[in-house]
Amino acid sequence: MNARGWRRAIEETACQQAGSGLSGLLIVSTARDIHNLALVGFMGTGKSSVGQLVAAQLHFRFVDTDELVEARAGKAISAIFAEEGELQFREHERAVVEELRNFHRAVIATGGGLVTQETNLASLKTHALVVCLWASPETIWERVNHQSHRPLLQTPDPLAKIRQLLSEREPFYRKADVLVSTELRSVKEVVQHVIHQFRLERGQTTHR
Ligand code: S3P
Repeated sequence: MNARGWRRAIEETACQQAGSGLSGLLIVSTARDIHNLALVGFMGTGKSSVGQLVAAQLHFRFVDTDELVEARAGKAISAIFAEEGELQFREHERAVVEELRNFHRAVIATGGGLVTQETNLASLKTHALVVCLWASPETIWERVNHQSHRPLLQTPDPLAKIRQLLSEREPFYRKADVLVSTELRSVKEVVQHVIHQFRLERGQTTHR
């Protein structure tokens, strides 16, 4: 599927789920006290760059779960994977997600695999609007192929790995409140779209 096809397919399905029209927003339960914004999605979808710009515009702080994990563990993600293994990395992530419950007015960029643990997504949803940034495998590969810090992509065929992981993870990403395709959109456009969705949600509920 080409980039335009991906964008329509992803956002239309998300909006059918939301029942609110193209590029619409899932109506978030007022039982949730949403005062943060979490960006989830695959590696290379722009969570950190979009998140920093969104945070600046909202006057929120920006946090990145990978950075929090590294700070708590005292070592780089690649060292955690090499010395402790992926399972232990996921345990570090889970602990960081629990810490996030105490954050207010924060934009949170999450590691690409974080929401594959259902409890992490459920925890984020108690305090944050969860926005998933989406891109096709080919676009992701274009964006990450010059980088070497991601242990999961250190394989002989990284594009095949991206395809495999993305298809395994797609059901989890679709559970976000909002799905935003980053195909054919500049970073600036994605930022505006994310802020728009966040403001819409906050306009629908009362106090903060
Ligand atoms: C991972 C994504 C990475 C990082 C780790 C594992 C994943 O974060 O958490 O390498 O499982 O997809 P980014 O999505 O910020 O690259």
